[in-house]
Amino acid sequence: MIKEYSHEPFTDFSIEKNYQEMEQALEHIKSYLGKKHSLLIDGKNVETDEEITSINPANKEEVVGYVSKASKEHAEDAMKAAHYAFESWRLWEAEARAELLFRAAAITRRRKKELTALLIKEGGKPWKEADADIAEGIDFMEYYGREMIRLKDGAPVKSRDGEKNKYIYTSMGVTVVIPPWNFAFAIMVGTTVAPIVTGNTVVLKPASNTPVIARAFIDILQEAGIPKGVVNFCPGSGSEVGDYLVDHPLTHLISFTGSREVGTRIYNRASQVREGQKWLKRSIIEMGGKDTVVVDKSADLEAAAEEIFISAFGFAGQKCSAGSRAVIHEDVYDSVVERVVKIAETKKVGDPVDGRTYMGPVIDQSSFDKITDYIEIGKEEGRLVYGGKSDDSKGFFIDPTIFADVDPKARIMQEEIFGPVLSFSKGKDFKELIEIANNTEYGLTGAVFSNNREHLEYAKGHFHVGNLYFNRNCTGAIVGYHPFGGFNMSGTDSKAGGPDYLPLHMLPKTISEML
Ligand code: NAD
Ligand code: ALA
Repeated sequence: MIKEYSHEPFTDFSIEKNYQEMEQALEHIKSYLGKKHSLLIDGKNVETDEEITSINPANKEEVVGYVSKASKEHAEDAMKAAHYAFESWRLWEAEARAELLFRAAAITRRRKKELTALLIKEGGKPWKEADADIAEGIDFMEYYGREMIRLKDGAPVKSRDGEKNKYIYTSMGVTVVIPPWNFAFAIMVGTTVAPIVTGNTVVLKPASNTPVIARAFIDILQEAGIPKGVVNFCPGSGSEVGDYLVDHPLTHLISFTGSREVGTRIYNRASQVREGQKWLKRSIIEMGGKDTVVVDKSADLEAAAEEIFISAFGFAGQKCSAGSRAVIHEDVYDSVVERVVKIAETKKVGDPVDGRTYMGPVIDQSSFDKITDYIEIGKEEGRLVYGGKSDDSKGFFIDPTIFADVDPKARIMQEEIFGPVLSFSKGKDFKELIEIANNTEYGLTGAVFSNNREHLEYAKGHFHVGNLYFNRNCTGAIVGYHPFGGFNMSGTDSKAGGPDYLPLHMLPKTISEML
């Protein structure tokens, strides 16, 4: 009997024992750093001369690991292995595939602190964020395993006299999985195990900033008993290996999460039918956000300020769900801005190995350069009320930065900065607040703080985002509770962690028999 799904609890680091265990895990993980990691193709480890060097963004000198880098030839071998393995994997019982996920979840749970420590080092995540990232990975395995069991006999359809009809879901084929670095464990795990549990095989190209944690997960899948060729691990250049895999005629499904720029490129390429291709490729494309927290004049202003801060600066604003825009009713605007600045003054920025750090570094030099350029643009477009300082001498550190009085159409209110930069605008009434909230090309998350029921009802119909939250922050969706995905240029709204997600990885089939 499988227990009903409920999400993995977060670790409470205010408990001394948990705090100490995390410190020990961070000490222990040092012996894991600087090692070489190989590709995995057809169940075999493959080492290459060319490598990706993964570094700790809080300390550029510290190498987290050297990971073999796949060429097009390796990608071709991986495609062939996945294509071959599909024929037997798709015939595994749904329960057996689900059980593999449950075993992988159990192994992950057992190694949770060690994996959290690795993510703190490789992703620059503060303890709380890294712990939540690993927990979300566990949730995806537990949830999708149960979902597959729910869907194993298909969906009900009617039968007329003299016939018996069935509507079932079948597997598709080789899935190319391309995740981002910012939820280096959770999204990588979720987008890999969804095709696997639905009977597809996978070629995973992890993000180049976080390949070590991805390889650690491949080892977990192997320990859980995944047959050879069902998952193949091919880190490499996006433009070389990524394009090759996307274009390949044997690719049936592409599951991408990342920027608008790369997502639209993949969407476009996937639509072209290549020589030898027998099907139309299906693409799940989840992209960026420019998300807004709206504060009505009736709101609890202290709660709103706290949650604006969390939305904007959790993991240094490097979440697609980050609330990088705050749109406030003019009557309470000054008070909210002032409260958020006061909160910023109390938060510690620094190396996330320290459990007291609220905000760590940004991921790499190019992100650092992009974000600091936006801060300069912000100084022209708004009034800098907090932060603005940065330092990349040791790691890629940028202070939480807050701009007030920004025009809703300004670049820093429109473009995804993907860093710790928050912009404030004001509106004269609730309708205008929502109009401003909707005026970007994205539509991922949004939050509304209000104690006016009519306004909340208005927001339900008019605030055009995939994940809408009332009187709470706009980040931190939980698998099975807040299915996640956005509208417009935020992507295909696949709703990861929700009841409609697995069917996107399968082909429904109708079987009608005359009795
Ligand atoms: P990115 O688009 O730069 O990279 C994402 C992945 O695509 C990486 O694995 C990268 O190596 C690969 N890639 C790059 N070029 C490629 C190509 N030509 N062909 C195939 N693959 C290629 O994004 P990122 O910097 O890793 O992540 C940040 C972005 O992801 C932000 O825009 C963020 O909003 C978005 N994101 C969205 C969601 C969501 O659920 N909507 C979740 C997390 C992150
Ligand atoms: N699922 C992540 C969040 O909601 C991206 O913050």
